[in-house]
Amino acid sequence: MLRCVNLSLSYRIPGPFWRKSTRVFAVNDVSITLPPRQTLALVGESGSGKSTTGRLLLGLETPDAGYVMLNGTRLPKPGTRRWQKLRKRLQLVYQSPLAALDARMKISDAVREPLAIHNIGTPQERALKVGAALEAVGLTLEQSSRYPHELSGGQVQRAVLARAMVTEPEVMVCDEPMSALDVSVQAQVMNTLLEMQKRMRMAILFISHDLRLVRQIAHEVAVMYLGRIVEQGPTELVLHRPLHPYTRALVSAVPVIGARGQQRIVLAGDPPDPSRPPNGCPFHPRCSLAVDRCRVDRPALRTSAEGQSVACHVAEIGAEASR
Ligand SMILES: Nc1ncnc2c1ncn2[C@@H]1O[C@H](COP(=O)(O)OP(=O)(O)OP(=O)(O)O)[C@@H](O)[C@H]1O
Ligand SMILES: [Mg+2]
Repeated sequence: MLRCVNLSLSYRIPGPFWRKSTRVFAVNDVSITLPPRQTLALVGESGSGKSTTGRLLLGLETPDAGYVMLNGTRLPKPGTRRWQKLRKRLQLVYQSPLAALDARMKISDAVREPLAIHNIGTPQERALKVGAALEAVGLTLEQSSRYPHELSGGQVQRAVLARAMVTEPEVMVCDEPMSALDVSVQAQVMNTLLEMQKRMRMAILFISHDLRLVRQIAHEVAVMYLGRIVEQGPTELVLHRPLHPYTRALVSAVPVIGARGQQRIVLAGDPPDPSRPPNGCPFHPRCSLAVDRCRVDRPALRTSAEGQSVACHVAEIGAEASR
């Protein structure tokens, strides 16, 4: 089980010489648990900190504060031998698939490479595993003998998935893994992921803008806004009975998920600037329900008896879970 506790990370952005550098608060006090066989979806608008959270979870970035635990022990520092050994158990499917592949390496070699790096199997076993992974994502033998630039965007995305799958990881962070796939390939890749998840007890963090996909694949959903989790809970509850005004706006934009006859909620105001997060609730400048308290006092996550958490002063959550 992978768990992160109170993770925060900010980036320093150097300004022009006449101005001081600024800080972008990418991830702020995020705690997530990924149990085996479960999929947690991370949703939220562009720049809300989803990819950064994924990289922090796998130890690919070092947090300013907080820590990550894998099966009860702290994740070692990146680059150390202990970390290298762990890497095969934790895989990332990159958001930009072309950048994840070596342009000079054929697809089949790129998929085989993690097995060689981690010394897994004999050459025959490796060939079988590579074949199975390529088949699982629907790439033909002929396609896998090409170089990345000779494939379509969706085919490259499938190759990146196959490369992540081949070591049969315990935890997989999939960052927009299906954005370039058409619906039939999406269904095929999703079935493969679900089947792998059952067989290997794999935990998945599924980062996506597509709430329809999220509804099909995720057991839980966490909603990020300006680097923080503002709502989290079982998928059905979060998508069908969202509590946070921001989640309501996200859900209302997807007619199939939003309640019948529900009006689309268009968010007022500009998207937030992560280098100057507002005081109080980070969402208050765009929130139609904001009261005075929201402008000064940042709401903590409160959890309902049904396991739905929300960080909002005005949301009614019914009975709260006793702690
Ligand atoms: N290496 C970096 N240096 C500086 N700022 C960064 C860096 N990586 C991310 N950021 C900033 O951190 C914030 C969160 O970025 P992140 O990539 O995690 O967002 P995201 O939710 O994945 O967005 P998207 O949906 O567009 O992929 C953004 O404001 C981004 O500009
Ligand atoms: Mg991203």
